[in-house]
Amino acid sequence: MTAASKKLRWQVFSVLRPSEPSPAARRWRTFHLTVLAVGLLAVILLSIDEFASGHRVYLRGAIWIVTIIFLVEYLARLWVAPEIPAYVDKSPTRARLHWIVSLPGLIGLLAIMPVVMMTGGYSISGADTASVFCILWILKLGLHAPAFGTLARVISNERAPIASVLIVFAILLMAAATAAHMFERVKQPEAFGNLPNAMWWAVVTLTTTGYGDVVPLTAGGRMIGSLLMISGIAVLALMTGVLATGFAQEERRREYLRVWDQVSRVPIFASLGVVTLSEIVGKLRTRYYPAHVTVLRRGDPGDSMFFISNGEVEVRLPTGGSVRLDDGAFFGEMALLNRQPRAASVATTRPTTLLVLYASDFYEIASHIPALAEAVENEAKRRREENLGREGKR
Ligand code: CMP
Repeated sequence: MTAASKKLRWQVFSVLRPSEPSPAARRWRTFHLTVLAVGLLAVILLSIDEFASGHRVYLRGAIWIVTIIFLVEYLARLWVAPEIPAYVDKSPTRARLHWIVSLPGLIGLLAIMPVVMMTGGYSISGADTASVFCILWILKLGLHAPAFGTLARVISNERAPIASVLIVFAILLMAAATAAHMFERVKQPEAFGNLPNAMWWAVVTLTTTGYGDVVPLTAGGRMIGSLLMISGIAVLALMTGVLATGFAQEERRREYLRVWDQVSRVPIFASLGVVTLSEIVGKLRTRYYPAHVTVLRRGDPGDSMFFISNGEVEVRLPTGGSVRLDDGAFFGEMALLNRQPRAASVATTRPTTLLVLYASDFYEIASHIPALAEAVENEAKRRREENLGREGKR
């Protein structure tokens, strides 16, 4: 394999990588999501007979185009499989075979099944086929959802509290189903005559779904039903709490790693010790801005300052001129230090990753780390003087 084609393979791999922050990768993800949305919309519309009858040719055309794009994507992913870090020690053929049987590989293969179905003469009209397309393609959306990975980690991290809530759920379910079976079985032998049927009612009630297909008629059955509904709300609230806390903690950990990665590019933090740095990292948030987006506007109240991890911004000064700031610089500090509105508008000139520090955290950090506060204050002073000088010259 020539060096040029290896380089190209790496570039294609980078673009297709799910978490890649580069503009090309973001553009690809937007395109892919749009194609997916168009495809799903076409199959949904195709399942509505009244609509489809007049537009069948266009809808089928859209489905063809979408499947062809997915086919090209599948082949591209297959080609770049040797670049996947987990497969680097394998030969290209073995890496590709491994990818084919991996989850993303199988999802990719399923997504191009419609091509096989269509070239096999299978008609792509009618509600049944439309639903097959829907199921195959919606799986692709999963590849865009880091939340799946996060969910798996949350479930693993929180397995003990989740198991406790599930045990409470099981106890309530069995107790209520048995009691309802005892109270109701004579009056409603069909619905409560055996425990599995009574359990169906208990699940529908405990989850507060309440289809209303089975309803207790005796006083005892209704009391059990009432208790079960109230307990259901409590159990669901518990489960929601456990999962929400787990998600928030997991997201905080991920954000910490993201910031830790970026913070080394900002010189003002470089001289800080690990302990101090870890305190700051916990307070910074990463924000990605595309090119030509206004980050802050002159005259707005200031609630945060920004460090440029990579990219470039243009500070539009009130005097009419502008200053460009790039990797490692910071801005938005003047409003925090002077407690005044923003002195200038700032916009990105190219895709930029910023680290945001909120005012409350800035004041706290400034009181702990005088050297950092001093460096920020000195730069703010220099900028203020520069702006006054420019104003004087006008
Ligand atoms: P703030 O006033 O909070 O919001 C606008 C920001 O632009 C300001 O903080 C500074 O960080 C930045 N800024 C203002 N003047 C200059 C300058 N002369 N050079 C570089 N940055 C500036």
